[in-house]
Amino acid sequence: MEEYPNTKSQGPIGIFDSGVGGLTVAQALRAILPGENILYYGDTLHLPYGEKSKEAIIRYSTEITTFLLSKGAKCILIACNSASANAAEYLREKFPHTTFIDVIQPVVDHIQQLDKKSIGVIGTKATMNSGAYQRKLLESLPNAKIITKATPLLAAMIEEGFTSGPVTDAVIDAYLHHDAVSHTEALVLGCTHYPLIQNNIRRVLPENCLIIDTPKIVAKSIVQHLENQNMLNNHSVEGQIQFFLSDLTPSFRKQANLFFGKDIEIEEVRVLSN
Ligand code: DGL
Repeated sequence: MEEYPNTKSQGPIGIFDSGVGGLTVAQALRAILPGENILYYGDTLHLPYGEKSKEAIIRYSTEITTFLLSKGAKCILIACNSASANAAEYLREKFPHTTFIDVIQPVVDHIQQLDKKSIGVIGTKATMNSGAYQRKLLESLPNAKIITKATPLLAAMIEEGFTSGPVTDAVIDAYLHHDAVSHTEALVLGCTHYPLIQNNIRRVLPENCLIIDTPKIVAKSIVQHLENQNMLNNHSVEGQIQFFLSDLTPSFRKQANLFFGKDIEIEEVRVLSN
């Protein structure tokens, strides 16, 4: 597919994640830009992205981007840390006319303005092994102490619908209770699935540890990008949201219903054959 510079303000914002995680960002975006149309692609067939190789994440992200652009997306929000860490650079080179907003840089820029000396980051293996947070945070805060920890069971657990209850709490405890990553001044939930269990995570953190509100920060950064490029949709009517999944799972439907109401339509679209 040919890539056209897309500056049409009324075009939709293309969002993708491996599953329900990106919904947390889509919801924050909806709250501040209700007039925007949204296309959401959840690659449920290939989740968890956190367990995949960089090459596989690049391949999935490229095909999804091509699909979203073919549907008229005016920009792409990579609402997944694993894809932001492993594929954003590749996507920006491959689609030079497209604006990509990832979920890591806005958070790093936000933290730079806070006076924090120690920062914890939890996320998937693919995100943590990429070293993206460590690198970017140290670039902007060379004196900060950065502690990262992979918490691979969390995204799969959330995707399965375990967002509260004893199982959820036990898994969170096993990863975070008394762990150095929790004894930091600010904790980044470096996976877009994690805001869904934010309250349960809060439970095991010392009171003075601030949880960074990634969805809100990223949503604000999108407003900035769209404003800068004159691409804000100023329509006063509520925008449409369309969902596409590579595998239509009941758990995705349940979460999406909770976030966006019962009437949503979800279409199964496989952008890759395997
Ligand atoms: N929500 C994603 C992230 O931010 C992916 C989780 C997964 O599929 O492993 O990393």
